[in-house]
Amino acid sequence: MSILVTGGTGYIGSHTCVELLDAGYDVIVVDNLSNSKIKAIDHIEGITGKILKFYKLDILNREGMYNVFEENDIEAVIHFAGLKAVGESVEEPLRYYQNNITGTLVLCEAMQRYGVKNMVFSSSATVYGMDNESPLTEDLPLSATNPYGWTKIMIEQILRDTYASDGTWSIALLRYFNPIGAHESGRIGEDPNGIPNNLMPYITQVAAGKRKMLNIFGNDYDTPDGTGIRDYIHVVDLAKGHLKALQKVIESNGIDAYNLGTGIGYSVLDVVKAFEKATGKEIPYVMADRRAGDIASCYADPSKAYRELGWKAEKDIYDMCKDAWRWQVNNPNGYE
Ligand code: NAD
Ligand code: UD1
Repeated sequence: MSILVTGGTGYIGSHTCVELLDAGYDVIVVDNLSNSKIKAIDHIEGITGKILKFYKLDILNREGMYNVFEENDIEAVIHFAGLKAVGESVEEPLRYYQNNITGTLVLCEAMQRYGVKNMVFSSSATVYGMDNESPLTEDLPLSATNPYGWTKIMIEQILRDTYASDGTWSIALLRYFNPIGAHESGRIGEDPNGIPNNLMPYITQVAAGKRKMLNIFGNDYDTPDGTGIRDYIHVVDLAKGHLKALQKVIESNGIDAYNLGTGIGYSVLDVVKAFEKATGKEIPYVMADRRAGDIASCYADPSKAYRELGWKAEKDIYDMCKDAWRWQVNNPNGYE
């Protein structure tokens, strides 16, 4: 029996493939390489000493997806494939709805057709919107401020309706907080195209001299130092959370949402200081205007994942910074 990983050459998917192979699972990856590189497969195989099966395929390709289920004995699906840039989703909403929602519908139809009803889905803390107070619990009302966020809320609803219609489905909705860092081998990591939107890849590029300085988006938030607070989680801890969720969906039926975060909030300045301490590199910064759509503070109550999945994050902010930096140093141009 194999685990199908959609989006498995991407940032979180590649780390999850390593954990799956290390744990002895057979892994099949489907990815159209729209935001990742085929080289990730070599690196995953190099780290683990195991091989996986790769299909370069768009999940919207129905016949192609049927073929994957036809050719393999699949026990469960971990579904990462999706577009994830918030700003781009505002510019190109139809592409986001088409890719993320239609892609998930095609995947679910293929699963139903072949009797595969175990799924772990990549949701996001973005579903908590702007109005809830941290620490965030899974039962809070959901809302979104951009098409990307709406795709996550809509897919969660599609999966809830699917389970309601057929109680033999088993689904975990994993709401990630802010994944950063990289595998400690330094061989897989985040490889953003162009100018990074997210904080950690921007910091590592400043440290590497590729960018002059960090712009800190807002220092007048209602937080202790005025900069935004987030719940950063090491991508390897996050990947391990998927294995715990996988066990749960294989063993029982139902649908549940789980926060995957550390429960600890760090400000932008905390992260800058932690990075400097962990790596010895100085990060020049300037204070800039707030970024549209940002909130002051967002961190998880991760206790449900601990109670029901037996998972909690183990790595601290220094591990995250050191590992992000090792990836940057070893791969100055990502997988290129
Ligand atoms: P990523 O872009 O590195 O990985 C996504 C992968 O999916 C890429 O390899 C891309 O090529 C592939 N893909 C996209 N559309 C596809 C399609 N139609 N068919 C086949 N493959 C397709 O992103 P990531 O950071 O690894 O995120 C993985 C998932 O987690 C996404 O669903 C994302 O929305 C979600 N998520 C990410 C974060 C984050 O901060 N990275 C936070 C919360 C949720
Ligand atoms: C971003 C996404 C969110 C997604 C999350 C997961 C946006 C608007 N939101 O959220 O949907 O779920 O990633 O990874 O893109 N910052 C700076 N300077 C920078 C970059 C960031 O000061 O150059 C600050 C931000 O204002 C924020 C913090 O750093 O306070 C983290 O930013 P980022 O890494 O982009 O993550 P989120 O904003 O949490």
